[in-house]
Amino acid sequence: MNKLQLPSYKEQAPEVAERFRKLKEREVILETADLTKKFEVEKGAVTALEKVSFKAYRREFLSVIGPSGCGKSTLIRILSGLETATEGSVLLDGKPVTKPGPERGMVFQGYTLFPWLSVKKNVMFGLEVAGRSRNGAEAEALQWIEMVGLEKFVDHYPAQLSGGMQQRVAIARALANQPRVLLMDEPFGALDAQTRAKMQSYLLQIWRNVDITIIFITHDLDEAVYLSDRILVLDANPGRVNEMIEVPVARPRSSKQHLNPEYLATKAHIESLIHPPGDDDDDTLPMIKLTKAGDEIV
Ligand SMILES: Nc1ncnc2c1ncn2[C@@H]1O[C@H](COP(=O)(O)OP(=O)(O)OP(=O)(O)O)[C@@H](O)[C@H]1O
Ligand SMILES: [Mg+2]
Repeated sequence: MNKLQLPSYKEQAPEVAERFRKLKEREVILETADLTKKFEVEKGAVTALEKVSFKAYRREFLSVIGPSGCGKSTLIRILSGLETATEGSVLLDGKPVTKPGPERGMVFQGYTLFPWLSVKKNVMFGLEVAGRSRNGAEAEALQWIEMVGLEKFVDHYPAQLSGGMQQRVAIARALANQPRVLLMDEPFGALDAQTRAKMQSYLLQIWRNVDITIIFITHDLDEAVYLSDRILVLDANPGRVNEMIEVPVARPRSSKQHLNPEYLATKAHIESLIHPPGDDDDDTLPMIKLTKAGDEIV
C-alpha cells in the first residue's frame, strides 16, 4: 500500500513565509535566556528546565508542548513571576521579570474565579484594585464581557456557568487589565472535546481583536497546530528546547484545515519529536487480579 506522502513541515507557502518574515520584524515582547530551574528534593535535585531560550514577538501566538513533566508549568510560573529561575533571565519589554505584574495576565486550567462574585464583579475586581473608579471599572468590565460573548450573564455567579463559560470569564478578567502577555497553562484541559473546540475558536477571534501576545501551554497536538504561529517543543528530564516550529498553516484558521497536508505534516513532525520511533512507553500495568478464575472477560 502507498504510504500517504506528506510535504515537509518546513515547506511554507509564499504568504506563510511572508507572515513569519513580518512576525520576526516585530518587537520582542518576552525573551528568556538560558533559563534553568532546579528543584531540591529529598533524593537530590530535579532539573525541571535547562537552558531554555526563546523570544516571543508582539501579537504572536506561541504554544509550548512536551511530555508530562518536561517543565511546561514551571516555565509559565517563572514567566508569570510566581517562581524564580535558578539561572538565566526573563525579559518583558526588555526589563527583567522578578515578580508577578499587571503586564502579565494569567489563565490556568482550574476555574480560578471568585465564586462569591458575579461575572461582572469578577472582571471588575482587578480594575478596582488597579485604582479605577467603580463606574469606570464597570464600563470596562462590560466591554470585556461582551468581547467574550457573555453579556447575558453579567449578573450570574460562576457556579451557574458551564466550564467553558467560566474560562471565558477568566479570559475577560485577565484581558481587562490590558496585559502585554497572556500566559495560559492548559486553559481548556478540563473541558469536553466539543467545548474545547469552541473555546479555541473564541480565543483566536479574541486574539485577532486585541493587541496581545499569547504563551499557551498544551498537551494537545491539534490544539497547538490549530492555534499557534510557532510551537516550542520541549524534551523531558531535563526540560530542554527540542525545536521551535513555525506552523506553515495559513491564517485565518478554521477546523477545515485539520486535513490539509501542511497541517498533518506539522502534527506528524511534533508527534515524532514527542514520541520518537522506538520510544515504546511501557504502558502495561502490573497484573493484580480482583476477579476469580473463570470470571475473565472474553
Ligand atoms: N515545587 C516542586 N518541587 C519539586 N519538584 C517539582 C516542583 N514543581 C515541579 N517539579 C518537578 O519539575 C518537573 C517539571 O514539572 P512541571 O509541573 O513543570 O511539568 P509539566 O510539563 O507542566 O507537566 P504536566 O504536563 O504533567 O503538567 C517534574 O519532574 C516535577 O516533578
Ligand atoms: Mg503542567
